[in-house]
Amino acid sequence: QGSEESWDDEEVQELVQTLSKERNWYGNHLYFYQGFWCTSRVLRAMISFQKHFQALDNDIFLTSLPKCGTTWMKALIFTIVNRNHFELKNNPLLSLGPHQAVPYLELDLYLKNHSPDLENIPQPRIFSTHTPYASLPPSIKECSTPKIVYICRNPMDMFISYWHFTDILRSENVDPLPLDEAFEMFCQGIHGFGPFPDHVLGYWKAKQENPNNIMFLKYEDLKKDIVFHVKKLANFLGFPFSKEEERQGEAEEIAMLCSFENLKGMEVNKSGKQPFGAPNTAFFRKGEVGDWSNYLTPSMVERLQKLVQEKLNKSDLTF
Ligand code: A3P
Repeated sequence: QGSEESWDDEEVQELVQTLSKERNWYGNHLYFYQGFWCTSRVLRAMISFQKHFQALDNDIFLTSLPKCGTTWMKALIFTIVNRNHFELKNNPLLSLGPHQAVPYLELDLYLKNHSPDLENIPQPRIFSTHTPYASLPPSIKECSTPKIVYICRNPMDMFISYWHFTDILRSENVDPLPLDEAFEMFCQGIHGFGPFPDHVLGYWKAKQENPNNIMFLKYEDLKKDIVFHVKKLANFLGFPFSKEEERQGEAEEIAMLCSFENLKGMEVNKSGKQPFGAPNTAFFRKGEVGDWSNYLTPSMVERLQKLVQEKLNKSDLTF
């Protein structure tokens, strides 16, 4: 998993000097690395992750842009995969919370430690990452049977969610970022792990090439029929529901356990912070589709929709 010496700060310092830099949404900076934007702390962790991570054939990766439903998917995947080890009422999710149950690679494991011990994690290991497909470490792509689940969301709702979230991360001495300025940055692709269309398209194309290894989901579809998606996820991950489980309504129970209201109400999610600074409460705001209509003007909507669809033009992906 990499040695102490391979944490080469100087190399990162030098690299940072060569990258385009913009102010981020809550007061520090974002750097443009391998076609996407991230903070220098995340960049350091990312480089370590890219250099040292060794995938196992039965690993599961949850991939997403921030604010697209990652927390929800963490809870669902963890519960589906581990349901035979624990009764739902004793699920470790209740004490760990979604983010500790399924840690982020670059925002948690490699952020805290350049060489985390990942070998003793019970298998199948479940990891989460916001890294764009093109920048995933080779060992994930070379793995014969990686299971990659990608969750995306309507960019307008993602933008509103991100704007609220980054406001919570802002220090007191930094002024709030007005909505129209944030919108301008979002349209220019300047947001964590953005641009949005590039991230989504990267996983969409990879899915066309590896349909068996990549599952591509939309937040809005999950909201429409969560039980259907719990079953679909279980099949894809190799943990299908048995006839007995179907009779007992296991998928329905998992959907309930991981519902917005239930997760938001869990004690573990009412306190504590993520290693990158976000309080756990910040991951549960409204959990709705279409909240953008309370914030965006018709011309903003038109601009963003046009911009995204132009980039997605040649794919059959729409939002
Ligand atoms: P809103 O800000 O629109 O409410 P992420 O987990 O990728 O950071 O995404 C966070 C978004 O997902 C937030 O959206 C949050 O409220 C929503 N969310 C969190 N848990 C959810 C759940 N169980 N069901 C539906 N939405 C959820």
